[in-house]
Amino acid sequence: MNSSHPSAAVTSAPAPAPSFRVGNVPVYGDALLAPMDGFSDWPFRSLCRALGSAMSYTEFVKAEFIVRAYEHMGPRLTFEEAERPVVFQIYGDDPDELLQAALRVQDRHPDVVDINMGCPARTVANGGAGVGLMRTPLKVARIFRRLSAALPVPVTGKIRLGWEDARTYRLIARIVEENGGALIAVHGRTKEQSYGGLADWDAIAEVKAAVKIPVLGNGDVRSPADIERMKAYTGCEAVMIGRAAIGNPWIFSRLDRDQVPPDEVRRMVREHLERSQAFYGPRKGLILFRKHAMQYLKLQRLPRPLRTAILEQEDAGDFLALLDEACAGPV
Ligand SMILES: Cc1cc2nc3c(=O)[nH]c(=O)nc-3n(C[C@H](O)[C@H](O)[C@H](O)COP(=O)(O)O)c2cc1C
Repeated sequence: MNSSHPSAAVTSAPAPAPSFRVGNVPVYGDALLAPMDGFSDWPFRSLCRALGSAMSYTEFVKAEFIVRAYEHMGPRLTFEEAERPVVFQIYGDDPDELLQAALRVQDRHPDVVDINMGCPARTVANGGAGVGLMRTPLKVARIFRRLSAALPVPVTGKIRLGWEDARTYRLIARIVEENGGALIAVHGRTKEQSYGGLADWDAIAEVKAAVKIPVLGNGDVRSPADIERMKAYTGCEAVMIGRAAIGNPWIFSRLDRDQVPPDEVRRMVREHLERSQAFYGPRKGLILFRKHAMQYLKLQRLPRPLRTAILEQEDAGDFLALLDEACAGPV
């Protein structure tokens, strides 16, 4: 058939190519919200996703709680369809329990299950979970081998650099890949660094060079320019953003905070508070929103008595009225 025939031109536009794939799950975009306990809940996560975060990681959930008290884990594992791809992040130190938990949550149909190997909290890491796993490579191999064989969805891992006396990031990344892991996210700090000091982007580049599965770089990305810098420096497929997204979810639309019009900030404060109250109920929703309000409106700049007065409001209407009064100018 003649390709210049008119009907040949009436083809639909080709589907955009995904930025990368997690196993068979396509991901569109190269910046996404990091999992953050106490922050990356449905209200905040869904807003970030709508602004361009490429996929949604839940706050971490303890495997033992999923196995023993699943009915109480609902809020942490609740998401909306528009958030997909959705990653459920779980943590634990026992391969059997992690497997049971990962199977249990399949009734909610996550797109991916992620194993936390980065949490430095003593209560987690010293018991062998979180970054504690980075001291036990054989166990990591067992976890990934078993989960990747048993689950209907891809399994991924989020790591740190390891411990100061055991910087096992290259080894663990290779083990994750060799045992069926579909992606590795790397926070470029050791356990001892916790969240301080500088993230080591050279180490992220080393992981990227060591594996073929996609790598997410993480640590110290604070601006849209940093997203490009980290990608260029490390070669990672995408960048995970944690603290810098709190108060600036527009970073996923490639905006610096001072580029966001004040009216948009005020609109977001209302929408986020509304979602928080719809999700947690009026009282708890307002309480949990306060820490976000602090960051959206940089309330630490206000005189302490005024800030305290705002944060102590128990009624959402009064809270917003006081906020509007205190932050009437550019925010
Ligand atoms: C308050 C808070 C809670 C966090 N909770 C988690 C978590 O549940 N799971 C996880 O893998 N990482 C967690 N992290 C680590 C972040 O995902 C990220 O690796 C870290 O903040 C470094 O990225 P950033 O420099 O962009 O903030 C948490 C970080 C913070 C600040």
